[in-house]
Amino acid sequence: MAEDLSILKGSKQEQYESLIPQIQGLLHGENNLIANLANISAALKEQFNWWWVGFYWIQEDELVLGPFQGPVACTRIKKGRGVCGGAWEQGKTLVVEDVEKFPGHIACSSTSKSEIVVPVFKNGAIVGVLDVDSELLAHFDETDRVFLEKIVGLIP
Ligand code: SME
Repeated sequence: MAEDLSILKGSKQEQYESLIPQIQGLLHGENNLIANLANISAALKEQFNWWWVGFYWIQEDELVLGPFQGPVACTRIKKGRGVCGGAWEQGKTLVVEDVEKFPGHIACSSTSKSEIVVPVFKNGAIVGVLDVDSELLAHFDETDRVFLEKIVGLIP
């Protein structure tokens, strides 16, 4: 497919609905994990212009920084630590309206105010997380959870 993304203005749901087939196109026929995670991060950044969006991948007993878009970030996160480590431990999406009120939140950037972390599963086992940070409070909701879970489910 063409590498240009078509960016839609509209409701959050409409933006996700326009983006998902384009992400499917980007992933089609490509099984390199780094390439696919990099393009998903870039597509989400281009469409939504979030402060930080990217992946942490499980390596032995830690989450290790993977492809992302945004400012530099901490490279390793232990299970149960921060929002990312919490989503890993609980095996479910965590939506945090105010990161300062989340016990143990890891502040990679003081600009980040709210966050969503979505686990990525492969053959029923968690293999990594998608982390999105916003400079706005309460930026993420159920719509983001539903669509971001769909998007990580597309990773081959
Ligand atoms: N805030 C995250 C750490 C990762 S950075 O935000 C990119 C956390 O608490 O897990």
